Amino acid sequence: MHQFIGAGVAVTGSGSAAPSLSLDNVGLSQIVETSDEWISSRTGIQQRRLATPQETLATLATEASRSALAMAEVEPQEIDLIILATSTPDDLFGTASKVQAELGAVNAVAFDLTAACSGFVFGLVTASQFIRTGVYRKVLLIGADVLSRWVDWSDRRTCVLFGDGAGAVVLQANDRDRLLGFELRSDGSQNSCLNLAYAGQPRSLVGEHAIAQGNYQFITMNGQEVYRFAVKRVPEVIEKALHRASLSTEDLDWLLLHQANQRILDAVAQRLKVPSEKVVSNLARYGNTSAASIPLALDEYVRAGKIQPGQTIAASGFGAGLTWGAAIFQWGR
Ligand code: ACO
Repeated sequence: MHQFIGAGVAVTGSGSAAPSLSLDNVGLSQIVETSDEWISSRTGIQQRRLATPQETLATLATEASRSALAMAEVEPQEIDLIILATSTPDDLFGTASKVQAELGAVNAVAFDLTAACSGFVFGLVTASQFIRTGVYRKVLLIGADVLSRWVDWSDRRTCVLFGDGAGAVVLQANDRDRLLGFELRSDGSQNSCLNLAYAGQPRSLVGEHAIAQGNYQFITMNGQEVYRFAVKRVPEVIEKALHRASLSTEDLDWLLLHQANQRILDAVAQRLKVPSEKVVSNLARYGNTSAASIPLALDEYVRAGKIQPGQTIAASGFGAGLTWGAAIFQWGR
């Protein structure tokens, strides 16, 4: 168990939002040379939502936040802190403040957090530290990404995988600490496996002063390396977090993994000996929505009445960085 002074942490509400339009695998096969059979059998993905030019990261994040606040019965003005986990901000200076203004969360400090597909879990742990130390009592944590902006739509190895979306949770100070254990990891030596990198051209300014100006490039990925990494590291980090919580896999009600690929979900569950009915999965309809995938799936299962108050969840994010992590928590107060 982690030591804490001050308050315990509870996840008291969830919400999600996805773009209105979805593209199925048959539609995708009109863009690149692929097939429903290939995509479904290798990934489990059948369709993905793609943000229209009118739908931005901020609009999706705001919609998800409103419904999380409503479920938690928390007014926007009561929020002390907003963390927006994203790798695809509308503005590189950050999009959290825009969401803060849209919500009317006038008392909240807001910032972005970047940890790719691990962003939500890293954000959950970050938010919890502020609550445990007693600094803040009500935190809005959003995971949102619009990866369609950065996918190379001529690269069939990557464009079939990703979709857009947003999910949010409200975290509150609570007598009982519902965050039971966590573990976060990074390995930058494998950074080149998955990138959305800046590339600039040298440009002379004056005298010896030169800078590199350019733009971010499309997503590049070594799929097989990422697959191997996920299947090895995710079970390890969940076991470590369970150990910190003095729990074992049999104590889990739900395994809530980043929705990257059904094969990864199945392989991780098999290694942990978690039966498939406890594995949360909605990626068939959304694809990989990066930082949004965990709160989006959580919200669907909560609203469907599948995830019940008091149930124990192992959430694990993994992806670019490379980064990965797990948090064991109980839903509700
Ligand atoms: N449609 C049809 N054929 C395809 C497609 C496609 N969309 N993509 C690749 N292929 C072909 C390849 O060209 C290759 O053909 P070849 O043998 O003639 O060269 C063949 O299919 C096999 O390609 P592989 O890359 O070896 O396919 P693999 O079985 O490894 O599956 C996949 C690829 C699905 C990407 C897998 O590696 C994977 O799931 N990796 C994990 C990726 C992931 O989840 N990334 C995100 C996690 S982190 C984050 O969320 C940001």
